[in-house]
Amino acid sequence: MLGEKQPLITTPPAPAGCESEKCQRMYKRIKVGLLAIASAALALHVLGKVFKGCEHDHLTPHTPDFDAGKVFLSFPSTKHLRENLAYYTSGTHVAGINRTQAVYTRDYIQAQGIDAEIVEYYPWMNYPVDQRVALFNATTSEVLFEAGLKEDVIPGDPASEDPNNLPAFHGYSANGNVTGQLVYANYGSLDDFKALKAAGISIKDKVVLVRYGEMTRGLKVYAAGLDGARGVLIYSDPADDGYVQGPVYPEGPWRPESSFQRGSVSLIQIYPGDPLTPGYAATKDAPRLDPNEATNLNRIPSLPLSYRDAEPLLRALKGQGKLAKEVGDNWVGGLTSKGVEYWTGPSELSVNLLNQVEYKITPIQNVIARIEGWSEPNRAVIIGNHRDAWCAGASDPSSGSAAMLELSRGLGKLLKLGWRPRRTIILGSWDAEEYSLIGSTEWVEENQKWLNAEAVAYVNVDGAVGGSEYAVGGSPVLKHLLYEATKQVPYPHSNQTVYDVWLRDSAKYAGGVKPEKPIVFPLGSGSDFTAFMSHAGISSIDMGFGGYGGSYHSNYDSFNWMSKFVDPDFKFHQAMTRLWGLLTIRLADDPVLDLKPTTYAEDLKDYIDGIEAYVASQIPDKTGIDETIAKKFRHLRRAQRNLLRSAYYLEKRLQYLQRVYGEGCQMSSGRRRRRCFELRKSINERVTKLERQFIDPSGIPGREWYKHILVSPGRWMGYDSQIFPALAEAAEDGNWKAFQAYEERAAGLIDDAARFLRKF
Ligand SMILES: *[C@@H]1O[C@H](CO)[C@@H](O)[C@H](O)[C@H]1NC(C)=O
Ligand SMILES: *[C@@H]1O[C@H](CO)[C@@H](O)[C@H](O)[C@H]1NC(C)=O
Ligand SMILES: *[C@@H]1O[C@H](CO)[C@@H](O)[C@H](O)[C@H]1NC(C)=O
Ligand SMILES: *[C@@H]1O[C@H](CO)[C@@H](O)[C@H](O)[C@H]1NC(C)=O
Repeated sequence: MLGEKQPLITTPPAPAGCESEKCQRMYKRIKVGLLAIASAALALHVLGKVFKGCEHDHLTPHTPDFDAGKVFLSFPSTKHLRENLAYYTSGTHVAGINRTQAVYTRDYIQAQGIDAEIVEYYPWMNYPVDQRVALFNATTSEVLFEAGLKEDVIPGDPASEDPNNLPAFHGYSANGNVTGQLVYANYGSLDDFKALKAAGISIKDKVVLVRYGEMTRGLKVYAAGLDGARGVLIYSDPADDGYVQGPVYPEGPWRPESSFQRGSVSLIQIYPGDPLTPGYAATKDAPRLDPNEATNLNRIPSLPLSYRDAEPLLRALKGQGKLAKEVGDNWVGGLTSKGVEYWTGPSELSVNLLNQVEYKITPIQNVIARIEGWSEPNRAVIIGNHRDAWCAGASDPSSGSAAMLELSRGLGKLLKLGWRPRRTIILGSWDAEEYSLIGSTEWVEENQKWLNAEAVAYVNVDGAVGGSEYAVGGSPVLKHLLYEATKQVPYPHSNQTVYDVWLRDSAKYAGGVKPEKPIVFPLGSGSDFTAFMSHAGISSIDMGFGGYGGSYHSNYDSFNWMSKFVDPDFKFHQAMTRLWGLLTIRLADDPVLDLKPTTYAEDLKDYIDGIEAYVASQIPDKTGIDETIAKKFRHLRRAQRNLLRSAYYLEKRLQYLQRVYGEGCQMSSGRRRRRCFELRKSINERVTKLERQFIDPSGIPGREWYKHILVSPGRWMGYDSQIFPALAEAAEDGNWKAFQAYEERAAGLIDDAARFLRKF
């Protein structure tokens, strides 16, 4: 409460009889405490006065001098972040099995003075029952090796001892008990399977052993299934995230020999969310597909393996088939230091792969919190993080969940100061991301109608901290805001800002030279921004500090791992909370949104250059290609120039607003003020809805859930972004008629976007 009087400014005298040293000491402490409370009350009092004196801009608690973002930056506390992370990592929270953590999250946010509720959905998910990988002699039935399929307990790390820890398991894996000879197929990428075929090795009726990397799990299994494999084992090779990278846990952050990577094998690039309710919410009574009709599921069984379990399998291939290094130069992994030669097989011995899972419809819990905007309650900034994890999930995602709680505490403190955001802020703590981005996807599907009208932007943080390198993907329209916000956040243990270090680190994506601006990647998939960006056309950001992949989706992504090797003083957690909060507040509170259509239009030119080069690479006969290729993109080129012109026009309108009225619209004449409000509203509407213009209601052919013409996860990439997916895929398929139709269609949508920007 804001006090009218200041009774605590003068401290009461020490009570009589307080002469002893102990009593005096205690009293001194009380006095210091009272003084602190007194100065806080005074500050609140002054702020309250300032707010009250500023009612000309509707009923605002605002004052031009009160910079909520800046004030917020001082709130995130490493102590709270550490406590939050300790909580989330104290028990497993696989999707659908830990309602307690949802209730805790809701109650914590509510305690900050923010409305929060649990929203449930009912997806169809699987859980492990029994599994086996064994090597045996088919003639004698003699078993030569049984895989452990469990991660070792590490003394001193309680998370590794949790009896609820999952064994080796893939979310959405198919039930099966299959036997066949073994074939090694490197990363199991399309190129790898092609190379294998070219080398004369068939995977038909075989059990295929591949390593993690390059392509998502689901696509490895899918590609193997297409060529007739019976089952797939995916192991973590030490070259990719084990001892070749550095010391392994608990001596260092990298993957130890018994560790394997759990994860989903759903085909997220077809559609994410509940497999049985594509495009609509998995509510309790929703109509559901038959599981056989779901097109985003694999049909052959799979399991993850540690390199300790993979080693005997690789040894069984020795001398069989081809030497792997003769099939491709990147085919040899890191077990050579243990004397393993990498061969393709097929093996003489047989492998039995048993994957018994239980599929059922299970309730999951999103926590949705809401702070209503005072001026534009029907415009919403949404921020989100998933809560579910395969194990303790210290980095993925609990570092983000810890940050979200701390962010809510900061917002709560601002609210107590009398601040309210101009626009509505929504916080989403999503469940079941790990299975297939389910919580966020179902929520977007259920709320799409009003989101389409009201959403300003979505800011996702999955793992907030898994290293020290800031990495971000996002819509080009949000780049400028990202630059500005990162310039305000100090980078831990340095005198630089996050922006400075981000710019420095960007060099490695720009051929080793420091680029002019830091790199913002286009969004593909792999986290909860997907439904917002690629399905609903809501400009999105996805960010985090990354670097160490060595505990990813294992029991060792634990509090101990985090606090020993990654973020001992929680300064990176703090930096991410600050940045996330600042972005949220700027998006919710800037009178004129800092979204830049000019950047989008400029980047669009790069997108077109990129897809043109890619399409050229898909045409085997290059004679006279330059001319024909350029011709194939002529509508898009024209539309891009058109969009850029419109974006400049919009910028001029903004400059006019700033020059003639000022962004705050704080003038005494009612008529001028109304004109200013109207112009400002119109500008904000153009910049927030620009992304929506890139939504093609008919979707990308073959995976129509994805509707954004510019970005989607690649059909054969999984998570990475494919620019102009429909064009890329038509070119890959050599379907030039379809290509031409999409090129004109995409150009038409961009022309519409250009017209939209000029609509005042
Ligand atoms: C759920 O999480 C809480 C808090 O982390 C933990 O105490 C509990 O054991 C977890 N439940 C299960 C089933 O793992
Ligand atoms: C799986 O198949 C193997 C080999 O055919 C067989 O020995 C075993 O009993 C089967 N296990 C289960 C659980 O069906
Ligand atoms: C399987 O066992 C038979 C019979 O002992 C033996 O001849 C054969 O070499 C064994 N195969 C392999 C690959 O070890
Ligand atoms: C930051 O700057 C101060 C003063 O210039 C210097 O003493 C300190 O070593 C710097 N710290 C780091 C981490 O660079």
